[in-house]
Formats: sequence, C-alpha cells, structure tokens
Amino acid sequence: MKRLLVGNWKMNPQTLEEARFIAHRIEHGLLGLDRNRIEIAICPPFVFLPGLKHALHFAKLGGQNVSASSSGPYTGEISIHQLKEFGITYVIVGHSERRALGETDEYINKKLKILVENQTQPILCVGFGTKRNTPDSLKKAVVKKQLQVNLKGVKLAKSKLTICYEPTWVISQGRVGTGNPATPRHAAAMCQFINSVIPKTRVIYGGSLDSKNVGEFAEAKAIEGGLIGGASLHPDEFLAIVKVFAKS
Ligand code: PGA
Repeated sequence: MKRLLVGNWKMNPQTLEEARFIAHRIEHGLLGLDRNRIEIAICPPFVFLPGLKHALHFAKLGGQNVSASSSGPYTGEISIHQLKEFGITYVIVGHSERRALGETDEYINKKLKILVENQTQPILCVGFGTKRNTPDSLKKAVVKKQLQVNLKGVKLAKSKLTICYEPTWVISQGRVGTGNPATPRHAAAMCQFINSVIPKTRVIYGGSLDSKNVGEFAEAKAIEGGLIGGASLHPDEFLAIVKVFAKS
C-alpha cells in the first residue's frame, strides 16, 4: 500500500493568499516524487477549498470534518455533497480536537457511513482519551473500543480506509520543533496493534512530526504515513517529512 502523508492545516492560515502560497510551494516541491510510492493530502479550512481546487495536482484535497447528515437544518455544518463539489478525496474524522468538542464514537460512526456512501476516503483518528503515562494495555483497550464503535456496520473496502493513531498528548499545538511526539517505538507498536484489530488497512501516525524527528517513524514498517499539523504549514518542513517517508 502507498504511504500517505496528510497536511492538516487546522484553522490556518488566515488568508486565501497565504493558503495559495503554501499550496503552490508544496506542489512545486512534490515534482519528481514517485506517485507509486506516496500519496499526499492537504486538508485546508473549508473556506479555502474552492480557492485551492486548481492549485493542487499531485496532492489531493481533503476535508477536516464532515456533517453526520447529508443535508438539512444543521447550522454551521458542511455536507459531504458540498465537499465533493470541490473535488475532495479524503475527509478526516474523529480527530482528537473534535472529540474534545464532544463528538462521540457513535457520532463518528455516522460520519464514516456518510463518507462510505459517497465514495470518499476516511482518515479515522483514534487514541483520544489516554494520557502519556496511561499503561499501554489501557491505551490499546481505548483504541480498540473506538475502532469497534467507529467502524460498526461501515462497509468499506479496507484499502480505502486510513486509520491514524494520534492521541491528544502528542499534538504539537502548532509550534514546529517544540512538540512532544510519541516514541517511534510506541507509535509503531500502536500502528501494528491497530492493524491486528482492523487488518489490511493503512495505519499512520500523527503528532508533532517534523523534519528532525521523522526519520525513525518513517523507518518503522508498521507506520504507513503521517498526519502532520503545524509542520504542514511550512512547505520546507512538510516536504522534508514527505521525502523521508518516500525514501524509507
Ligand atoms: P501536529 O498536529 O503535527 O501539529 O502535532 C497533528 C494533528 O493534530 O493532526
């Protein structure tokens, strides 16, 4: 399976001009990389999707979230059909920052079903609810329960699903180089565990990845890509991470 690197821009940048600048720099830096080895997704804020639709070619566009309903009276929500208008390929669901806002496992399950019905590839994040010092056995139990409820009744070709291990305690808060990632060993063990629960699925790791720490993560066979927040807003950082994954 190809490795997948996802740029999660979160609520950044603040202008379309900056978004276009970052996207063009990333796209330019991807020239020459082997598309058979690596896939790239950029998930900007929704409002920038129309402005970036034609800026990305190697990189595919993704949404950071989607409504659990396909249409109707849901103030502030974005439907899968609206996202598809702008050519998105992926949608992130179950990110820790959304679970922290109150999204339950059952609600995330509804979103996954909507994505599957509409032939969109989900990137399901799991790991919320643990702490750095939570025993590994408990971390696994939490992740297993999330996987079971989130994916209940989801009829999806396994090859189209990406699962990301990204517990809250590894997220950088956007400051590149100052984050506190999981150890590559722990990340790899959890990715392997996820693969034992949901076999034949692509499993990636997210949390404080940057150009300096990426090497050991990329070397681990169990880690089939990365979800990159803060560093994905800095084209040189993001491209350096992509290139390390593409080579390993
Ligand atoms: P980070 O964010 O790389 O800034 O830690 C990752 C994410 O939350 O998706």
